[in-house]
Amino acid sequence: MDKPFDFGRIAGDFYFTNRVKETNWLKQQIDSRINTILISPRRWGKSSLVQQVADKYKKQSGAPVFCFVDIFNIRSEKEFYEEISRQVIKATSGSLGEAAKLAAAVFKKMIPRFGFNPDPATDISISFSWDDVKKHYSEVLDLPEKIAQKKNKNIVLCIDEFQNISFFDDPLAVQKRLRAHWQKHSHVTYLLYGSKRHLLMDFFTKPSMPFYKFGEILFLEKIEEKYWIPFIMGRFKATGKEISDELAQRIARLMVNHPYFVQQLAQAVWNFSAKRCKEENIEEAIEDLLNQYTILYQKEADQLTNLQLNFLKGLCNGETVFTSAMFLKTYNIGASGNIRRIKEALENKEIIDINGKTIAFSDPMFELWLKRRYFV
Ligand SMILES: Nc1ncnc2c1ncn2[C@@H]1O[C@H](COP(=O)(O)OP(=O)(O)OP(=O)(O)O)[C@@H](O)[C@H]1O
Ligand SMILES: [Mg+2]
Repeated sequence: MDKPFDFGRIAGDFYFTNRVKETNWLKQQIDSRINTILISPRRWGKSSLVQQVADKYKKQSGAPVFCFVDIFNIRSEKEFYEEISRQVIKATSGSLGEAAKLAAAVFKKMIPRFGFNPDPATDISISFSWDDVKKHYSEVLDLPEKIAQKKNKNIVLCIDEFQNISFFDDPLAVQKRLRAHWQKHSHVTYLLYGSKRHLLMDFFTKPSMPFYKFGEILFLEKIEEKYWIPFIMGRFKATGKEISDELAQRIARLMVNHPYFVQQLAQAVWNFSAKRCKEENIEEAIEDLLNQYTILYQKEADQLTNLQLNFLKGLCNGETVFTSAMFLKTYNIGASGNIRRIKEALENKEIIDINGKTIAFSDPMFELWLKRRYFV
């Protein structure tokens, strides 16, 4: 029997719901070769959406080749170039032999060192010397375009956690280099995404920054309740159980429509449900998850200052006006000047998301835990 829900991995097939508008829009962007930047908080579904779009192309003849580069663990410009080369060569070659041939044909000045990983057998690694990178970085930056032309195919270069280039030495110089080369590419569409909204917005919307107006920006939203209800009911049904629309709605609401957590809670509820889900199964699932998360959340709470905790208490109580004298007094925040620092620190720790005037917990389960287990 299929697993009813999936979380923590790229959601595809029957674990994927909705995103119709976004999928179509992204596909249009790619068809028109417009560079695109996709931004959302962690675990709202960026990777799943991009994969979904890539899958849509699979059956289409003349479809572009998708290359996926995740730079979450990449800390230098050299590693970045190595990873781009590796993924582009891999995605555009059918076999290891072909990959080696392609690399030999496209690198004229750089001397890449190749590694072949036996597991999986199709994997390769590519490394460059720093010296080569310094002198001939252009060759790597133009590699996708060169290969695309050679193969007579368009390439969609997807770079996940793109904001991480700001951890490289001299990030501004790197951005200048990338922009200067990438903007000349006519066979490559860049799809850049990540979760650090402020950093990414700085990159792409500040006139003084190299990537200013490089592409169009999409802010990915959560998935609405009206899509979660049939999705949850459908997954129960497909796996031999039942849940009412009212209880499915409750699952989505408890997790504030957060894609990862809705799927996680739905799975837990399914585990506790006999054939038909009862109200108490939701309670059991929540309590069970809160137990599982307690060690982690306790650590998270221990790292917060009293002022930060006081602020979160207000947020848990549904407060929305954080600068009022009443709020400052009720929650013992002190001077109103503290608020800005508290918000900044909590946002940097990824405890809250700030979107204009709206402030929300990044993790709805942590909010529940604070309400039920901490501020009691
Ligand atoms: N369209 C969707 N339908 C159903 N569930 C989804 C969808 N998109 C995401 N999810 C759920 O959210 C989880 C996280 O999705 P995904 O990894 O795509 O997010 P992300 O934004 O790329 O996260 P990260 O910032 O950690 O890279 C998935 O494992 C799945 O449980
Ligand atoms: Mg992702």
